[in-house]
Amino acid sequence: MLPGKAPRESRVEMTELVLPSDANPLGTIFGGRVMQWIDIAAGIAAARHARRPAVTASMDALTFHWPIRVGEVVVLEARVLAAFRTSMEIGVTVHSEAQSTGLRKLCTSAFLTFVALDEQGKPSQVPPIVPETKEEQEAFAEAHQRRALRLGAR
Ligand SMILES: CC(C)(COP(=O)(O)OP(=O)(O)OC[C@H]1O[C@@H](n2cnc3c(N)ncnc32)[C@H](O)[C@@H]1OP(=O)(O)O)[C@@H](O)C(=O)NCCC(=O)NCCS
Repeated sequence: MLPGKAPRESRVEMTELVLPSDANPLGTIFGGRVMQWIDIAAGIAAARHARRPAVTASMDALTFHWPIRVGEVVVLEARVLAAFRTSMEIGVTVHSEAQSTGLRKLCTSAFLTFVALDEQGKPSQVPPIVPETKEEQEAFAEAHQRRALRLGAR
């Protein structure tokens, strides 16, 4: 059994500026661009937790709560919520940030599963997650419930 790690040890914050090339004719960002940034932030968090390369196995519960407009700053936050045998669930939030006030609005959220790989490209064991706060304990329990649903569906 590998030593446990806290969610904060894998935390990633990524800041992006929405350019016209990221947007549709309505001036709001393409969903695919947000998904690309989510995948990158989650992949960094997964590799930071596992200290190995990790690949996306699935992305679920992706929700676009509010549109994001050209010229806005977006802040992505990712961290490993739970680690199983070789897979990890990563939670990602995407906030837009008003430049005048600094106020942030939750625009998108997602849960992804990444699998750590060894030198042969085979799934490799990952350290367990040790939640430190009440919020992390709740997220940990919810991640286990989502995994049970995913395994049931498969
Ligand atoms: C993800 C992948 C490595 C799993 O390989 P596999 O041979 O199915 O491995 P296993 O059956 O031993 O499962 C390994 C782990 O992956 C998990 N897993 C496999 N498919 C999954 C899926 N669709 N969703 C969530 N977890 C999944 C299993 O639950 C298991 O987790 P655990 O060890 O924590 O219990 C393989 O399917 C793959 O390479 N997929 C393509 C990945 C990719 O190219 N991603 C996009 C670019 S990064």
